[in-house]
Amino acid sequence: MAAKTGVLVIGASGQIGTELVMGLRAIYGNDNVIASDLKTASTEVLESGPFEQLDVMDRERLNQIVGQYNVGQVYLLAALLSATAEQKVMPAWNLNMYGLFYVLEMAKERIIDKVFWPSSIAVFGPNTPKLNTPQSTITEPTTVYGISKLAGERWCEYYHNRYGVDVRSLRYPGLIGYKSNPGGGTTDYAVDIFHKAVAGTPFECFLSENTRLPMMYMPDAIRATIGIMEAESEKVLLRSSYNISGFDFTPAELANEIRKHIPEFEISYNPDFRQEIADGWPSSIDDSVARQDWNWNNEYSLEMMTKDMLSHLAEKVI
Ligand code: NAD
Ligand code: SER
Repeated sequence: MAAKTGVLVIGASGQIGTELVMGLRAIYGNDNVIASDLKTASTEVLESGPFEQLDVMDRERLNQIVGQYNVGQVYLLAALLSATAEQKVMPAWNLNMYGLFYVLEMAKERIIDKVFWPSSIAVFGPNTPKLNTPQSTITEPTTVYGISKLAGERWCEYYHNRYGVDVRSLRYPGLIGYKSNPGGGTTDYAVDIFHKAVAGTPFECFLSENTRLPMMYMPDAIRATIGIMEAESEKVLLRSSYNISGFDFTPAELANEIRKHIPEFEISYNPDFRQEIADGWPSSIDDSVARQDWNWNNEYSLEMMTKDMLSHLAEKVI
């Protein structure tokens, strides 16, 4: 049987998908990486390769696209994120769980070979050790998003152990990039702040000034994602999900870093419902297991990311 050369990204028009599709196309070739989403994609994605409109809840259409493009790998990014999910509890549960089941079932039936599915630091909760949160620790999430991610991790491991499904997963921290806007998370402030700084507008933060959260710059997240998918199967010992870490900061620390480049930048604080979500999450993450198992290593520091974000966003303004 011919090798399955297609790589399908579901949820490709979101914050991660917009960058992941381009990273995958650079490796597998433009025509082999199919972007798909409910909504249309960025110009760069649309002009460089195939795009298909897809609701992941429509199993028939999902099967049809997988067959049409001879898909072997699926990156499943479609989900409702933490803040949106609290406003839409049942839709979030249904999308975050059934989307995953449909893709895992295709892998179980050997229609596809390999699955990437992202988990999150949201699997942790208020009773988890906050500093250098270990790989294996208390996971008692208090949000629908966190509960769906924890259940998803358990199901990934189950499908691997019971059916031999090759599924790989990362617990992303808050992700920051300049190419697209974030989609309804609690860490979104850390992207919005850069847009306001470059526009010369004061920024009102929805988290309090000392809320420390784990974060990562998008190029590192894309490298980690492709890295775990490319790793030899024997090295991916955990089939639930790996902790990965970049750096951590508070809104006040990020504002200070931005002020090194834009001294007049102003920030104020007006915490809303997202504060409670953030308060239940770790401040920093221990990712030594990922480093040991499949040689994960982050490259960007807070300083490097801030400089890079500001220069790219300034180019967009010009
Ligand atoms: P996003 O909200 O920016 O993008 C999600 C995309 O999925 C959107 O383009 C949306 O239109 C699409 N989508 C929604 N419902 C769909 C459906 N039924 N069928 C097809 N597409 C649908 O999210 P993101 O930040 O790119 O996150 C992608 C994944 O990574 C999610 O699983 C998220 O939980 C996880 N994650 C993200 C972060 C982060 O900081 N961005 C952190 C941890 C985990
Ligand atoms: N950045 C994500 C969120 O805030 C974490 O999974 O929802």
